[in-house]
Amino acid sequence: MRTIDWVDGAIEIIDQTALPVEERVLRLTTVPELITAIQSLAVRGAPALGVAGALGVALAARLHADDDQKLADCVRAIESARPTAVNLARGARRTARRLPDGPDAALTEALLVRDEEIAASEAMATRGADLITELCGRAPRMLTHCNTGGLAAVVGGTALGVVLELHRRGTLRDVLASETRPLLQGARLTAWELTRAGVDFRVAVDGAGPFLMARGEVDAVVVGADRICANGDTINKIGTYAHALGAQRAGIPFVVVAPESTIDPDTPDGAAVEIEDRSGAEVTAGFPAANPAFDVTPHDLITAIVTDRRTIRPGSGDRPDS
Ligand code: MRU
Repeated sequence: MRTIDWVDGAIEIIDQTALPVEERVLRLTTVPELITAIQSLAVRGAPALGVAGALGVALAARLHADDDQKLADCVRAIESARPTAVNLARGARRTARRLPDGPDAALTEALLVRDEEIAASEAMATRGADLITELCGRAPRMLTHCNTGGLAAVVGGTALGVVLELHRRGTLRDVLASETRPLLQGARLTAWELTRAGVDFRVAVDGAGPFLMARGEVDAVVVGADRICANGDTINKIGTYAHALGAQRAGIPFVVVAPESTIDPDTPDGAAVEIEDRSGAEVTAGFPAANPAFDVTPHDLITAIVTDRRTIRPGSGDRPDS
């Protein structure tokens, strides 16, 4: 099943807050319902957010076709529901450009965004698995962070799509899924996806990753991205930077897998990105907390960025914007 889709005039999503305990579909029929789903992470992951932004504008177009002001307010609310993943605003703005042609044109554009993300997932899986095989030279032991599978896209995924492709090829030796504090996208969602795919794996606490690399138990780290800057700096789930440092110290490849739609040539570097700060209630029971949802991995720590169209090597001086 698709993580997010347009079904009979509304947006349907798999409710990621309920997994792995319950497999529940939410039907979103209003823009406020969509925004709540985005902010509560019922739908999440950069490519899925891009599709959510696009379908959200298409939904708004049907609901408020005769009220330009209301429609403009909806577009603004959707594109700013979460600030960090560039896909959300990009999907919403791209669809909004078709609003003058009417609701049907907006929906056609939104479905195109969806279909492009599906095609991108397939291309990244192949390119990424080829690269990991080339870099590791044997059936690799992989570590991945957060959730970057079909749940974070529409189907397929980014980094986890590469892991699953290696499994399909019969050349995957081991998978470590880091749990991803505080909302457990690794321990809940990646674990759910790997189980469904019949892949053996182990969950590791986030802090264990660099140590397991140092002990020689990981051949490559593969992660997704929420925004890739013009210079290759990569914003992804909090904890990614520590894994990149661990990989550098252990001398193993650190590979980012993301569609071209996650590259933002208008953001020069990681310092220019708004990092979402989430409620301290996700971290402590009433004590003060720091809860940045994402971090910045500097480009020089990244062996390669695999997109649906190319392989960029920021660690060797390549820039995504060239
Ligand atoms: O806060 P989330 O769960 O939306 O964060 C998601 C991530 O950081 C993913 O790693 C990223 O979006 C890549 S998804 C293919």
